[in-house]
Amino acid sequence: MCGIIGYVGKQRAVNILLEGLKRVEYRGYDSSGIAVLEKGQLAVVKKTGRVEALAKIAAPRKFRATTGIGHTRWATHGGVTDANAHPHLSSDGKFALIHNGVIENYVGMKRFLIEKGFTFQSETDTEALVNLIAYHFQKEPANGDRSRFLESVRKALLHVEGTYGIAVLCTDFPSEIVAARKGSPLILGVGDGEHIVASDVSALISRTQNVVYLNDGEVVHITEKGFSLSTIQDQEEVAPKFDRVSWKIEDAELGAFAHFMEKEIFEQPVALENTMRGRFSDDGSTAKFGGLNLTAGDLRQIDRLVFCACGTAWHSCLVAEQLIERYARIPVEVEYASEFRYRNAPLDKNTLVFVVTQSGETLDTLEALREAKRKGYKVMAVVNVVGSTIAREADGGIYQHAGPEVGVASTKAFTSQLIVGAMLALYLGRLRDMSYTDGVEYVKALKHIPELIKQALAQAPHIKAIAKRYAHHRDFLFLGRQSMFPIALEGALKLKEISYIHAEGYPAAEMKHGPIALISPECPTVFFAPAGEMYPKLLSSIQEIKARNGKVIVITTTGSEIPDGLADERIDLPACHDAVLPLVATIPVQLLSYYIAAELGRDVDKPRNLAKSVTVE
Ligand code: AGP
Repeated sequence: MCGIIGYVGKQRAVNILLEGLKRVEYRGYDSSGIAVLEKGQLAVVKKTGRVEALAKIAAPRKFRATTGIGHTRWATHGGVTDANAHPHLSSDGKFALIHNGVIENYVGMKRFLIEKGFTFQSETDTEALVNLIAYHFQKEPANGDRSRFLESVRKALLHVEGTYGIAVLCTDFPSEIVAARKGSPLILGVGDGEHIVASDVSALISRTQNVVYLNDGEVVHITEKGFSLSTIQDQEEVAPKFDRVSWKIEDAELGAFAHFMEKEIFEQPVALENTMRGRFSDDGSTAKFGGLNLTAGDLRQIDRLVFCACGTAWHSCLVAEQLIERYARIPVEVEYASEFRYRNAPLDKNTLVFVVTQSGETLDTLEALREAKRKGYKVMAVVNVVGSTIAREADGGIYQHAGPEVGVASTKAFTSQLIVGAMLALYLGRLRDMSYTDGVEYVKALKHIPELIKQALAQAPHIKAIAKRYAHHRDFLFLGRQSMFPIALEGALKLKEISYIHAEGYPAAEMKHGPIALISPECPTVFFAPAGEMYPKLLSSIQEIKARNGKVIVITTTGSEIPDGLADERIDLPACHDAVLPLVATIPVQLLSYYIAAELGRDVDKPRNLAKSVTVE
């Protein structure tokens, strides 16, 4: 949560900060602010609301400063007010600080600082840290030492319990920034005569593709001359490892679409092609993954898989569970990362742990990974964001290559995770009992996915019309069986997060054990009823809904017969292989949620209370 950016260079900092903040705004959008060093003084502008509101008051000030920091907030400590917005200043006016994370021991810190004469203007945890830095600065010998700024930040950070990605300005060192991380992402962009630190590549990609991903416990000191990297704890110098970001700024532009979510839904044929590219064996009977760092022999020893993830990524794991158990016959458990990290789950030596995450920064997932590694297990990661913390801390893994996902509601990253799960099932299956012929058929089905997704997307106008008719309802049920159950959960999550309509997903046959009480003309059901052996049973469940005057939007396979009067609305899916069905069935519910939210005039890409990557507990 929270987006941060800092700039040291030759250009006017404000323009670069505001542009960068707009790009990381999806990380948090309660309020935003900037601080620049203007004529030796710190100038701060901050405002509740979106970055646009900040730009309106910051731009006319025509700051000439070439060093500055900026922040977009997702509130944790303290309400959404101008005073609580970042940057925060130390009470002596020497330091400005932006922070992404949570300082857990700020209460004691604040008490100590008040005793020392520091004053506070906000209710935030962050203000304690900026004052603690000022406190250490006052204690450092003032002998003109260039490292005094860095040392004060470092000493203050040694007292912090919690998580942070920070960037700090100091009036005594006008063209410098000190930035550090522990538990929250931080990336350094090295451009032409300029340096940018940010919580997200998208904030700096318009300036440079050359980046250094900071590791936890590292601090970077940026000056006019360059930068130095060291450890917070031991002050050891760290040799920077340069990476090149593979995507360009245009990949994260809206283009002709109304919202990023809409763009990302329609990008799926290409995104999924990219996920699969180069990942099939030459004989066309299995998948291959370069990054797993496990031999076929290692994988044959695995007798249990544990998947950990949050939210939408967790739903993708539920699908992977079904496919892996069915095609590879390996028992799979799916855990909420937030629960797994605390519940001390027993794992045995032949267990392989997977974490699945779009951002690669979700704190609960990161901590689940660390907990499993601490117990000595190998942890593989399925990650979309290259270079993210989870990608770097995992023992191996699979990049999704779905491209940048900006909309808070995950769409293309989800279907890309489904593909990875389906490919894993194939790969593990072929290492065990799946025959060559079945493998070839499975690969053909996967290769056909982009075309199937295009066919599903072609129904957008029809689904938009349905959305208009149903947008006024306040409750929805999403029902499906087997591999359609996780898609029912995902459909319900998509609808509630962007439209604020209450929605619940259930296994269809569970309806009669409780949710059936909700059925009424006011609570429509989105019912997944693809053709197959369960079809007659699915129709019976729909009958039960209709008998209670419920409205039903049936998502079925083209050509399947639905008795008269059962479907109030019908959405057809192209016929496809079982392993591919969850992917294809996802498209209608993504479109339905999107069009309902758009119809209601919701802020689709930045829904209330949410943030794209959840880097707090
Ligand atoms: C998706 O629409 C949600 N916004 C959310 O559930 C998300 O999937 C979850 O926070 C996990 O994020 P991650 O994939 O980046 O770890």
